[in-house]
Amino acid sequence: EKGGYEHFMLKEIFEQPRSIADCMRGRINATEGRLMLGGIRNYSGALTNAQRIVIIACGTSWHAGLVAEYLFEDICRIPIEVEYASEFRYRNPVIREGDIVIAISQSGETADTLAAIELAKSKGAIVFGVVNTVGSSISRATHEGAYLHAGPEIGVASTKAFTAQLTVLTMIALSVAQQKGTISDVKFRELLVELESIPKKVAKALESDGKIKEISALFKDVHNFLYLGRGYNFPVALEGALKLKEISYIHAEGYPAAEMKHGPIALIDENMPVVFIATRDSSYDKIVSNIQEVKSRKGKVIAIVTEGDVLIPKMADFTIEVPATHEALMPLVSVIPLQLLSYHIAVMRGSNVDQPRNLAKSVTVE
Ligand code: M6R
Repeated sequence: EKGGYEHFMLKEIFEQPRSIADCMRGRINATEGRLMLGGIRNYSGALTNAQRIVIIACGTSWHAGLVAEYLFEDICRIPIEVEYASEFRYRNPVIREGDIVIAISQSGETADTLAAIELAKSKGAIVFGVVNTVGSSISRATHEGAYLHAGPEIGVASTKAFTAQLTVLTMIALSVAQQKGTISDVKFRELLVELESIPKKVAKALESDGKIKEISALFKDVHNFLYLGRGYNFPVALEGALKLKEISYIHAEGYPAAEMKHGPIALIDENMPVVFIATRDSSYDKIVSNIQEVKSRKGKVIAIVTEGDVLIPKMADFTIEVPATHEALMPLVSVIPLQLLSYHIAVMRGSNVDQPRNLAKSVTVE
């Protein structure tokens, strides 16, 4: 059932070119420039006219929400708030009749997310679900929604559900932006074409597995890791750190790279590995200076870079290449090496990667 892989997690990581394609199947046609997302049809007017959208989720799903925030605000011009379901439900949030809530959940059974949905509904919100498990509690509690179609995810560490969540959220944002007229036809088509090419770029990113395994062997005994990214890659830094913590039990923190100066830089010495997600995008020059700041304090830099980058390999101790894509879609590709890094480190440390200690696949208690 693991399809020849040693663990479900590895199988699920390698399945991503297919699961992302499954997620888009029948929904986009880049050649014709068409996007058809059935699950948001009945309430599409409410989405288009929304004054504000609140995204609620936990863990990895919350990270997917953070990526969506950047894209929705950029192309839909709708203010977005991304909240931990557990905080939202207990803080008397301001929700008005007709506000839109998007709940993201792989399992569809997360207790806090479900309770947050009920609270939002009781205040008159329209709730969309972005859920993997068909027929789950969350899929039933929401007004409408789009399934991930990623197939069952068995490993406790979420991998293919994350990339499918990003894919669905991107399709929702594109569809709203098109209806609102806040995106040009040219940009809409460009993003659609790029989205369609993601499965093959993810497949390319997976080819670095051997190199990532070699790097993992050098870092398996460290006690701390820092993950830094900016813009669309900031949530990816959080996700990389979460993946490492939960399966390898190494302490890891994700930060927006610019925040380093406000505290975490004090941690940097020759024993601190820092993973930079430093692909070519609008914050490239800024992140290059952040890498220099870490190197001048003797930190060990592992950089995720765009194919063909010649500058960062001269500064970083290790570089891992991923194919170029539009910056809004880069998280789909740049997260891949981080999933593999955490997997290999965890295996080398002898942990039970599919069922890490203290964790359950569905968190059905708060
Ligand atoms: O099933 P959900 O997406 O609602 O689960 C949310 C979190 O419990 C989940 O993403 C958790 O953080 C994962 N183990 C992360 O890999």
